[in-house]
Amino acid sequence: MIFKGLNKYLSFSALIILGLTATLLISLPAISQPANITLRDLAQEQNFHIGAAVSIKALRNDPTYREVLAREFNMVTPENVMKFKPIHPERDRYDFTAANEIVTFAKAHQMQIRGHTLVWHRSLPDWLTETEWTREELMEILRRHIFTVISHYRGDIYAWDVVNEAVGCKDSLRKTIWQQGIGSDYVELAFRWAHEADPQALLFYNDYDGEGLGEKSDAIYSLVKDLLAKDVPIHGVGLQMHKSIKNPPKPEDVATNIKRLGELGLEVHITEMDVQIHNGTGTQEERLVKQAKVYQDILGVCLKAPNCTAFVTWGFTDKFTWIPRAFGQPDFPLIFDKSYRPKPAYQALVEVLSTANH
Ligand code: XIL
Repeated sequence: MIFKGLNKYLSFSALIILGLTATLLISLPAISQPANITLRDLAQEQNFHIGAAVSIKALRNDPTYREVLAREFNMVTPENVMKFKPIHPERDRYDFTAANEIVTFAKAHQMQIRGHTLVWHRSLPDWLTETEWTREELMEILRRHIFTVISHYRGDIYAWDVVNEAVGCKDSLRKTIWQQGIGSDYVELAFRWAHEADPQALLFYNDYDGEGLGEKSDAIYSLVKDLLAKDVPIHGVGLQMHKSIKNPPKPEDVATNIKRLGELGLEVHITEMDVQIHNGTGTQEERLVKQAKVYQDILGVCLKAPNCTAFVTWGFTDKFTWIPRAFGQPDFPLIFDKSYRPKPAYQALVEVLSTANH
């Protein structure tokens, strides 16, 4: 009698527990993707680099950010903290604190690192921009900067964006503090100094709006071709790929561009992909599907090209993206939503990676 009662009691409790678990499972937010396959696993099988730019603020404060980053990617690019201003705040002082945190995280999770960036016209400290320098002084500042930063991370950085966005409109170099203070040979000097500082690191020229075919991609192509003709140590070109569903890149043009860079012996990395949807048409769902298609096309093109060896997005969750601030509009340009749920763009990347043969 007692046992019968106990049995009844037990099965009743089992039912309650079962019910509770089911409710819990249903109501749990899908913060992490439950399927056991990840972009990282798939990329690894193809011997391919899949990466994301890392926000130091997010890395420090958001455990889910860290979890998803390490789970889905095998490469990182510090989004800002290796730029001139944060890393070299005074003439005789460098601050590696934040950049070191990203490097430590990446190494702990066996991820490769793209160093970004040594020579750019933005993110420059006041001490540098508010003084008139002679050519010799400016060369010495740049040489020391490159040497100090690269040497600090020697052996840890897989590829450096040595020079960023140097090509202006038309065929000429952008008028920057470097171009005007040193002359157009600052580009080749930067690469030579970088190579001296870490002969193992791959050295990249990185730019935007030159992904497909056109004036700017021609200008980038002739810049790197000239550098190679002068035996300048340059190993690759970074195609930033900041795009929108309104003006998507033409996949066949990107393929042709990657191919011609390959014929020069250069690697290509897709370095900063994001796809804006605010200026598109259709419902939110339709826009997200269009966005997925852009991601899918570009990863597809990259995986088909033997010299395209990395695909990096500029962030990975809509919770942390530079786009709304930079364009003054709410936007959702990345592959996970703000709650780290995979978007159609994520599924599209999984699909291409699953069927690719790099
Ligand atoms: C952007 C960062 O994402 C922002 O947080 C920062 O305020 C400005 O720079 N091209 C580049 C990147 O090479 O370094 C830029 O990153 C985006 C455009």
